[in-house]
Amino acid sequence: MKDEILQMLKSRKDFISGQELCEHFQVSRTAVWKVMKQLQNDGYEIEAINRKGYRLIASPDVLTVPEILSVMTTEVMGRKIYYYDCLGSTNDQARMLAEQGAEEGSLIIAETQNTGKGRMGRAFFSPEGCGIWMSLILKPEIPPMDASMVTLVGAMAVHEMMQDYGIAAGIKWPNDIVIDGRKVTGILTEMSAGPDRINYIVIGIGINANMKFFPEELEKTAISMSMVTGENYHRAEIIACVMDHFEKNYREFLKTGDLRFLKERYNAGLIHKDKEIDVHEIRRVWRGISRGINDIGELIVSSDEGDVIVRSGEVSIRGVYGYMK
Ligand code: BTN
Repeated sequence: MKDEILQMLKSRKDFISGQELCEHFQVSRTAVWKVMKQLQNDGYEIEAINRKGYRLIASPDVLTVPEILSVMTTEVMGRKIYYYDCLGSTNDQARMLAEQGAEEGSLIIAETQNTGKGRMGRAFFSPEGCGIWMSLILKPEIPPMDASMVTLVGAMAVHEMMQDYGIAAGIKWPNDIVIDGRKVTGILTEMSAGPDRINYIVIGIGINANMKFFPEELEKTAISMSMVTGENYHRAEIIACVMDHFEKNYREFLKTGDLRFLKERYNAGLIHKDKEIDVHEIRRVWRGISRGINDIGELIVSSDEGDVIVRSGEVSIRGVYGYMK
């Protein structure tokens, strides 16, 4: 009943009378009053006025399942949520759940991660109460070699969320979201596949939302949305916004099989479009001009030897003039 009452309060701008709630749930006025007290204890600001009833004034920044679902607008993505106070890594948990049959669109969220994972075996800083650490399970029927495109779909969704919030973030190919050369979101995609079939893909997204500062060793490379605007963000709404953009782009990707539909938008968001970059391969580093992605999400880099196609997973890129780290 608590979750449903919360949903009703959220769906109304005005007061809901105690009488209406009693009749709807077939319970006493005291029972309704108790639920309101519980919600207030959870951090919901609820106004109670005699003869008028109850009105929701503000929701706390919590990542409870009812709070997230109350703002979710998608049909599939993020509709099934697994929430944990603390995990090693949401990606590891998502992989385990995917193995056990968790369906496409399942979203694993943790308030904090002890061993958050970044790309290239790095650790990912995931403190409590200020960030979004989540992993989305996907089970697309596409060839395994096309899976890297899903990562770019994820990056696009986060970039579009930033735009909705009025934050001038950019994309560093293939899937970092950066502001002033510092990372505000990292994405780690992992896959389980056979020779010609994907079992599942896990897209792990870490968004630095409300941190006010970072430990010294990350100060120069990490930034949060809050540090840019001074605002405190309601993380459940950010999650819902990312899921909404992801769902739309992912549907289009499955329909068309490539990234033509978002290529222009993605390239417009690239921080290194038409700029000099260093391409770090396992055995060599070379310099070229980044031209943006092609229809399948590979980066085209002009070099002395002509245009070279760079595939994600094989390389990392760095800006030559320190505009990305
Ligand atoms: C990177 O920038 O190197 C990728 C970082 C990915 C971090 C996210 S946080 C949620 C999910 N769980 C993890 O352990 N990693 C990803």
